Amino acid sequence: MRIDLLDPAPFARNDFWSTFTWLRAHAPVHRHPEPGGDGFWVLSKHRDIMAVYADSDTFSSARGMRLGSDPAAVAAVSQRMLIVSDAPQHTRLKRALHQAFGPQQMPRLEALVERVVGELVAEAAELGELDFIDLAKQLPNRVVCAMMGIPRPDWAWIGALTTDAFDSPDETVRSNAHSEIFLYFIELLAERRARPGDDLVSHIAHDTLVDEGDGTERPLSDEEIVFNCNGVLSGANETTRYSAAGAVHMFAELPQQWELLRSLGPAGIAPAVEEILRWTTPGVHALRTAVRDTEIAGTRIAAGDRVTLWNVSANRDEDVFTDPHAFRVDRRPNRHVAFGHGRHLCLGARLARFELGALLTELLATLDGFETTGPVLFNSSNFTWGIKSLPVRLLRSRAFAHRERAAL
Ligand code: HEM
Repeated sequence: MRIDLLDPAPFARNDFWSTFTWLRAHAPVHRHPEPGGDGFWVLSKHRDIMAVYADSDTFSSARGMRLGSDPAAVAAVSQRMLIVSDAPQHTRLKRALHQAFGPQQMPRLEALVERVVGELVAEAAELGELDFIDLAKQLPNRVVCAMMGIPRPDWAWIGALTTDAFDSPDETVRSNAHSEIFLYFIELLAERRARPGDDLVSHIAHDTLVDEGDGTERPLSDEEIVFNCNGVLSGANETTRYSAAGAVHMFAELPQQWELLRSLGPAGIAPAVEEILRWTTPGVHALRTAVRDTEIAGTRIAAGDRVTLWNVSANRDEDVFTDPHAFRVDRRPNRHVAFGHGRHLCLGARLARFELGALLTELLATLDGFETTGPVLFNSSNFTWGIKSLPVRLLRSRAFAHRERAAL
């Protein structure tokens, strides 16, 4: 079988899944060539991917966390941005940032998410027909921008810039967009240092201390704050939207799953969210670099080798999931790796789960279902799985129409 995971075409057609079925069966630790480069290892089995995620002493994130990144750009943020850091810096930064996402912040964040979801679904129901990605992209963006205290007129602009920074096929566009976001946060930080508000940037700047490991604590540096604000912004924006849109795509294709979800009541939401995360897997791959000679499933890996972990493949591994190519809202157990695993486990996992659950709850209360009205387009990316365009008609429920009339 011809394996080319650098070719964007199969990702744009959403038909790369069979490549991974083949890899899992025939070459679970596969050496992938790379034009002008040394090549990299491709891991496709759930067990091997979990093992590498768990062994961050051997497999470093500090030299980049994805294929196709510019080594100079990685070096500029390495050990200061969470996702491209190793212990002990990573541990300190994560502990500091966790204060902003931890359980004590959740009631506030949940109220914010419910307000945003209510606004978005009401706006969409009013329209009746829309490109669902236009709704889906606003959910995490409005939440994360409100969380960070970004002024409302800047929300749409910063959201679009984040997409360029993360997802543009052109490395120059990506790095220019990153620079613009950094400059934006430098200004925002200066403003919040002078006039603190009740928002994430102000809290990180004023109240968050990094443990230096020797009993002393210090505030985060401006660079650490700016780099990690960018990380949070892109981590939030370039993932959740695709799970939300992917869910609606499946419910349009399989209306019986929507009816099953409705029949399960509130208890059905949490397992449905997990299945949506498994099914969509917006983080297609992660990358690690071996820092010493080692072995994966009997294959020798040399120090300096790059190892790619294909979450999309782990999440369809037949050894872990019964009937892995079926979308089932009541799937249990569901040990997916959509949020990664180990020390880099997604910082926003709790928030993303809540956003998706709140969206499902509101859609169930408002709509009878969805019908696609045009072609569905997918991202041409081997890093971010997602739907670029999902034209849909929203089938409004009679109960919702009644609720609206009663409110008039
Ligand atoms: C469906 C939604 C999401 C998915 C599928 C997702 C996926 C992931 C994955 C796979 C990783 C690990 C990457 C690695 O190991 O190299 C990660 C890390 C991260 N995510 Fe998410 N994410 C989501 C939502 C969010 C949200 C809402 C935020 C912030 C508000 C966020 C912020 C981050 C950050 C800061 C990291 C780095 C954590 C670390 O390095 O310790 N993510 N995410």
